[in-house]
Amino acid sequence: KLNIWMDCDPGIDDAVAIAMAAASRDQLSLWGISTVAGNQTSDRVTNNALQLTAFLGLDNIPVVRGATEPLIRKLEVADDIHGETGLGHCRLPSISKQPDSENGILFMRDCIMHLPGQEKMVLVPTAPLTNIALLFKVFPEVKERIDQIVLMGGSSAGGNVTPSAEFNIWTDPEAAEIVFHAGVPIVMCGLDVTNHCGLDRNQVEELRCSSNPVKHAYGEMLQFYFDSTEYQSKDLVCIHDAVTILYLTNPELFQGIYVPVDVDCTSGINRGMTVCDKRGYEGSEDQSVLLLNQVDLEAFQHVLLEKLSYF
Ligand code: BDR
Ligand code: CA
Repeated sequence: KLNIWMDCDPGIDDAVAIAMAAASRDQLSLWGISTVAGNQTSDRVTNNALQLTAFLGLDNIPVVRGATEPLIRKLEVADDIHGETGLGHCRLPSISKQPDSENGILFMRDCIMHLPGQEKMVLVPTAPLTNIALLFKVFPEVKERIDQIVLMGGSSAGGNVTPSAEFNIWTDPEAAEIVFHAGVPIVMCGLDVTNHCGLDRNQVEELRCSSNPVKHAYGEMLQFYFDSTEYQSKDLVCIHDAVTILYLTNPELFQGIYVPVDVDCTSGINRGMTVCDKRGYEGSEDQSVLLLNQVDLEAFQHVLLEKLSYF
């Protein structure tokens, strides 16, 4: 089984990623979930992570609070895409549970360093990379115990928050630059692939009408995407963050190329752009990033819906 740690800002698609991990217990050991400010404020995303873990039967999985703002930039939340609470139209039962730690970076470090024997951790960030950058800067010893980072973020061809930048990287470019140059193998599930990974209107409507409470809740969340200005005229809602977990459980669904990646940390029009150098580096795994760029959409939808049927 793969040991994984999820770092997220739930967020509708983060919530799907968490459900995918919960439904993959035979393949993945989930050690914990850290939150970071991004789609919503730290308080909202942390509350969402706590509610989601309770709702999905992950009560024994630690939920810890990470950074409450980007390293340098001012936080700008994405409430137009994820709503006031961060989970669209969905209202989960409120709970009184508090985070297992208010110092999520230290908690992560201890968890990674105390993995049994020589086992390693796969980090799965689906949010701005603030926590991972802090983890590597403050506790560089963890890097040896990281097997790989499978992250949602970036793009080699156009952005979503600006013409050139993807939201997670744009929110904290300095953190992303630190992580992309940490010397740890990275799989980049960026917009190149995630823009083609999602569900259509009928599939979302079917979830919404389901009598299964988990499917219904996810239908309510995903319908919010279709109601937003970004998706009004589209027929596929992207479920970006879920790609990370499905890559781990079903790598055969995806294809990619190896490229070096740099991040634009200026404040100009390309702030947060991931500059992927495709000039002949494909194939060299050395010091590079595996940039996913193709998916089998039908198979992706099949696996995603099947995993939601687990509950
Ligand atoms: C990413 O930005 C966030 O809004 C989503 O949760 C996802 O992680 C997509 O650009
Ligand atoms: Ca996210």
